[in-house]
Amino acid sequence: MKWPARRMESQKGKGFGMFEIAARLEADGADIIHLEFGRPSFDTPIHIKEATKKALDDGVVHYGDISGDIELRESLAKKLTEFNGVDTSPDQILITNGLTQASMAVFEAGVDPGDEVVMTDPFYPQHPAKVGLVGGETVTFPLAKEENWRLDGAALEEIVSEKTSMICLINPANPVGRVFTPEELSEVARVAIEKDLLVVTDEVYEYITFDGNRHVSIASLPGMAERTLSLFAFTKAYAMDGWRMGYAAGPEHLIADLRKVTMNQSTHPNVFAQKGALAAVLGPHEPVDEMVAEDKRRRDLLCSGLNEIDGVDCPTPEATIYAFPDMGDLGMTSNELAKLILAEAHVAVESGAFYGRQGEGHLRICFGSEPYERLEEAVDRIQGVLERL
Ligand SMILES: Cc1ncc(COP(=O)(O)O)c(C=O)c1O
Repeated sequence: MKWPARRMESQKGKGFGMFEIAARLEADGADIIHLEFGRPSFDTPIHIKEATKKALDDGVVHYGDISGDIELRESLAKKLTEFNGVDTSPDQILITNGLTQASMAVFEAGVDPGDEVVMTDPFYPQHPAKVGLVGGETVTFPLAKEENWRLDGAALEEIVSEKTSMICLINPANPVGRVFTPEELSEVARVAIEKDLLVVTDEVYEYITFDGNRHVSIASLPGMAERTLSLFAFTKAYAMDGWRMGYAAGPEHLIADLRKVTMNQSTHPNVFAQKGALAAVLGPHEPVDEMVAEDKRRRDLLCSGLNEIDGVDCPTPEATIYAFPDMGDLGMTSNELAKLILAEAHVAVESGAFYGRQGEGHLRICFGSEPYERLEEAVDRIQGVLERL
């Protein structure tokens, strides 16, 4: 019997990081504060749940459109046109099981074995893992903390080769918390156009921006709509991570190819959950604004608490639900630090090295996954451990 496939080797060491160790401690009775992954602490807004319950009562329980609910795609087309500034029709949208399925479909449809996908370092680990799964190679260009993680078109240009099949971008950026400016995005657009490359952009944090930073979709820049696949999800903004609702938007012929992948994976996403997603798009935006305001309060608490510790530099994230403090001066590797904080403070955080070479010396700490009081407690516990070093 031949098993496993060789591509599975690309997954070695790409698990859920610290979560697995934390879960073991928890099973032994430890009171773990979970700041290691991006699971929003809020409940899904009530009008979204009510619409889903109604859909169930109305018998929305059968197979649906393989592209996704038409009403949902129509409402998203309007949102893309008005909010993202990208003229979009419902046929240019594919509803998926979270952003995760959308990105997997992009790599499966667009990357041949041996192709290279170019992305920033730090990156979101799921992306290189998926590239590996389809037999592709990830090639990274470094962003530097000293330059506020600025997107550098020249560094990108240097690593593009004949083998490059696409550029993969996360904006707003997890883990570094940047909202890339139109100028930075123009650099990427210039390279993509000059080298005739597709851009796949993960915009799962589009609504979670702070201090007046405004998210710009790269597809809205001149010449980019025809070469961009933009990926979104209801996951973070609407606290719908368990619902598995996301979508891809882009040129119709590319969306048609993604659909060939997703229809073979799952036919289409859950039909009544899509009615909840529709209520999210059509409903009031205040619940999102309230959650973002609370995330901002938590961000400020975490960053000011960390900055009080000698040897820690925690820049204020412009977006997302993560801080990415530099702890290099403490004289330990990121892995050692994350393990120490988990073992002694019972606070689960992620090692920066999990996000690429540029993440070494950093931790990624989620401020959106626990209520304010628990986060306060986490800051106290981390201070206690690190101040003893
Ligand atoms: C950058 C990024 N992309 C994608 C995802 C996963 O999104 P979803 O849960 O909608 O599949 C996450 C979750 O943390 C993320 O941070």
